[in-house]
Amino acid sequence: MKIGIVGAGFVGSAAAYAMVMRGVSTEIVLVDRNTDLAIAQAEDIHHATPFAYPISVNAGDYTALGDACVVVLSAGSNQKPGETRLELLERNAAVFGDIIPRVLEAAPGAILLVASNPVDVMTQVSLEIARRTSPDFPVGRVIGSGTVLDTARFRALLARHMGISPKSVHAHVLGEHGDSEVLHWSGADAGAMPVSAFADEIGRPLTDAVRAEIDQGVRGAAGKIIKGKGATWYGIGGGLARIVQAIYDDERAVMTCSVVNPEVAGVQNVALSLPRIVGLGGVLGTVYPRLDEQETAALARSAGILKEAVT
Ligand code: 2OP
Repeated sequence: MKIGIVGAGFVGSAAAYAMVMRGVSTEIVLVDRNTDLAIAQAEDIHHATPFAYPISVNAGDYTALGDACVVVLSAGSNQKPGETRLELLERNAAVFGDIIPRVLEAAPGAILLVASNPVDVMTQVSLEIARRTSPDFPVGRVIGSGTVLDTARFRALLARHMGISPKSVHAHVLGEHGDSEVLHWSGADAGAMPVSAFADEIGRPLTDAVRAEIDQGVRGAAGKIIKGKGATWYGIGGGLARIVQAIYDDERAVMTCSVVNPEVAGVQNVALSLPRIVGLGGVLGTVYPRLDEQETAALARSAGILKEAVT
């Protein structure tokens, strides 16, 4: 089974590299309107395979996506410094209107994994475009990377504060991949204990000041990195590879990614991230988290913001 990546810039190539490092799939095809870029990225990544896994990495055109089980959509523009993800919408929606029919013509059974920002709205737009060709296109086959990255940032910062492995921290970020995202503090745990109890136990309490710093570290991460190096790519590349792996291996892993939800906190038909069960076939189920009052209100606000952006 093959993985396609449309858009071989920083994000698409970082995703391909991360897949090679993790041993995800046996064949990766990079497609880009800049053919020279796709060829150069594929060659460069292919040269890393002896240090990782023997995956075939090639550049190709849309027809080379035939039989792909997942196609990552990472084409389009990035945020400029100071620009919000939502401000990118018009530019990237036009790019996707061109790309998605071509992808589905070559690989009608593929799962579309949307990475381009604003990722939640782009997920909703992608489902609409896919349904123009295939009216029954399943909702769970158009997945946005959503807050998979914010969740990783949350876990990484909590783990750093407590001096433990991020793999031992379970904490989700929900809602928009963007300014209104919701850190689900009340559901976070470490070592099978609520995270605040664990942090107290090891003498690294999560005081209000620490929580505020972690919140800002997660919510402000992209802005800070974009200021420093112009764009982000390693974190999202790792997240995309992880989602592809869960699909490819039919893991039924629980991860926060974005699909169009029939209703969230009273808002109908909106794409945002909630914990999803991810396996072969894409998003196989959604687990509605137990939120406290403040988190419930924050998720409703996030859903409202996204709904407004898409209409
Ligand atoms: C990120 O959060 C910019 O959405 C991108 O890294």
